[in-house]
Amino acid sequence: MIISPKVFFDDCYGRYAIAAVNVFTMEQVHGLFSAAQLANAPFMVQLTPVARNYAHARMLSAMIDAAAKIYPKVVYAVHLDHGNEEHALDAINSKEYQSVMIDASHDDFETNVARTKKVVDEAHAKNIVVEAELGVLSGVEDDISIDEEHSCYTKPSEVANFVGATDCDSLAVAVGTSHGAYKFSGGQGLQFHILEEIQNRLEGFPIVLHGGSAVNVEEIERINNAGGNLTEGAAGVSPEEIVKSIKYGVCKINIATDTRLLWTRTHREFFKNSPELFDPILPGREYIKEYEKFMLQKFDLLGATGKA
Ligand code: G3H
Ligand code: 13P
Ligand code: NA
Ligand code: ZN
Repeated sequence: MIISPKVFFDDCYGRYAIAAVNVFTMEQVHGLFSAAQLANAPFMVQLTPVARNYAHARMLSAMIDAAAKIYPKVVYAVHLDHGNEEHALDAINSKEYQSVMIDASHDDFETNVARTKKVVDEAHAKNIVVEAELGVLSGVEDDISIDEEHSCYTKPSEVANFVGATDCDSLAVAVGTSHGAYKFSGGQGLQFHILEEIQNRLEGFPIVLHGGSAVNVEEIERINNAGGNLTEGAAGVSPEEIVKSIKYGVCKINIATDTRLLWTRTHREFFKNSPELFDPILPGREYIKEYEKFMLQKFDLLGATGKA
């Protein structure tokens, strides 16, 4: 069943979080929907412009529609991740999405507000919800000063104005995470004091955490033991941080990197152990199975198991 994220967020606020998982391939769609059905967990399946450009936007939507038929008990929403106006309008007009993100977070405050508001008007006219972003999510490096470091974070003093001026439905914030496998290069972790201040000023409004992958050390070791060469220092958000963030109003946790690492690990190990094989179906099956296992654990961690 397709549900608006609004319904998800009303139910989960402060209690559990919705996994918003980026998909790029058929195997990932199978693994995600299969796990959600087994766990009876609500979820969001999200597509980035890169994913749409790789598989084709219509291909991804068709795969998701098919998966909903194959796994008929799933409760989900389709979300455009990191879109600009053009992507958002295409998604809104396609009728294939319940939710879009307009990412104008690299612009100044006024421009971000104006660009976001335009998309909100188009989306709301069609009952589609909008995620906006305030603050710049980026790899924070050791050698930059505290002031510069803090300038990347969402400013709590701006969030209420931003939400009021744009009428967005959820807000992605920069509170220490970054995209990819090398988060927390300064070892600083999630900035809960900033998250708390944001929550205090937003009173029950859903917060989105980008860069939510765990980047499990064991996975990195296995990849490297099977011929990979990922640099040491790869690190993600700890399970404790994820659980704690939910109490601060984080309703949607974005996950992409973990599923890429899982792809790399299962395929590298498969071909290392079976160098004579060359059939995509065999490692593909293995990946779907491992993906499903990974998502079952994730739904549990987020407290979403049984909530569909
Ligand atoms: O932030 C979202 C994704 O991790 C980026 O994925 O490769 O589709 O840009 P992409
Ligand atoms: P990760 O790189 O931590 O998986 O974050 C994904 C994300 O934020 C997608 O929008
Ligand atoms: Na998003
Ligand atoms: Zn993101």
